[in-house]
Amino acid sequence: MTALLKATDLRREYRVQTGRGPFAAKAVLRAVDGVSFEIEAGRTLGLVGESGCGKSTTGKLALGLIPPTSGTVRHRGVAMPPAGSTAWRELRRKMQMVYQDPLGALDRRLPVGVQIIEPLVIHAALPPNEHRERARTVMAAVGLQPHQFDSYPHELSGGQRQRVVLARALMTEPSLLVCDEPISALDVSIQAQVVNLLLDLQDRLGIAYLFISHDLRVVRQVSHDVAVMYLGRIVEQGEAESLFAQPAHPYTRALVSAIPVTGGGPRRDQLLLQGDPPSPVDVPAGCAFHPRCPFAVAQCRSERPALEVLPDGRQVACHRVHEPALGIAA
Ligand SMILES: Nc1ncnc2c1ncn2[C@@H]1O[C@H](COP(=O)(O)OP(=O)(O)O)[C@@H](O)[C@H]1O
Ligand SMILES: [Mg+2]
Repeated sequence: MTALLKATDLRREYRVQTGRGPFAAKAVLRAVDGVSFEIEAGRTLGLVGESGCGKSTTGKLALGLIPPTSGTVRHRGVAMPPAGSTAWRELRRKMQMVYQDPLGALDRRLPVGVQIIEPLVIHAALPPNEHRERARTVMAAVGLQPHQFDSYPHELSGGQRQRVVLARALMTEPSLLVCDEPISALDVSIQAQVVNLLLDLQDRLGIAYLFISHDLRVVRQVSHDVAVMYLGRIVEQGEAESLFAQPAHPYTRALVSAIPVTGGGPRRDQLLLQGDPPSPVDVPAGCAFHPRCPFAVAQCRSERPALEVLPDGRQVACHRVHEPALGIAA
């Protein structure tokens, strides 16, 4: 079967200044450094990792919002056309982005209904006399009231604004939504509502999600598959249930063991992450995770582990994954 979206060896570099002043050195920052994944129609790939590991950049590359330094993105087997081209705009109807901050994503001066209709105007997707009707249908689907068509963003709650953003993204009947931290800016009390709405929309409309989040609890709830990123690379990728039950990479183990368990009490197998990730302009040699890894040995400091496919289909980049004594094999 052809994947809905297939990313192969994506890289995105930025030239950045290190230090200040006229003599500041230039360095290459590898925001995304050789990332591959597939998303099937109607399924969710969760993308997790600490802040700065390259999740948002990966999402933008997936939609062709920024060009890769190298690597390819294919949508139903067809290569991503150059950004801005007619073919790309046509494809963008089928792939939409949902950002973290719904207020920032909306124009404060316009009624939300006008903004919900906007993608239809841009893509000339329906005759104009049908725009309002479609907006009403989509608004109902995301749980907005018909009279809210004429509301301004500031008249709505944070949760309602995120529903507006979702409604706008759904107007062109996309097959894929890239959701970049879609609930992180919302009150905890309404996060669950928006998560349930996303799950419900997937059930009814068969939409696929690239679900980006640093919150593993939510990722666990929504994802069929999960990819774990560290400093621009995927260090572990696999089916969500088994990955959460038996994380193989020490970094995944640390993230999973940091998920608060309902009912309190520290987990017995807790693996604490020390400090912050290193800067992506100065990635440690060998395994980039080795300075923070309790299992690191000499090989980890000198040799970068490749992603290896385990018998259960899991992909893991760790030299010590096969050592049963460490209990880190899947
Ligand atoms: N336009 C840019 N110019 C320079 N560096 C960037 C740019 N966009 C992202 N980066 C850097 O790339 C790395 C990954 O960023 P990002 O993809 O936003 O991470 P995440 O979403 O996981 O927090 C970070 O170090 C960030 O500072
Ligand atoms: Mg981000």
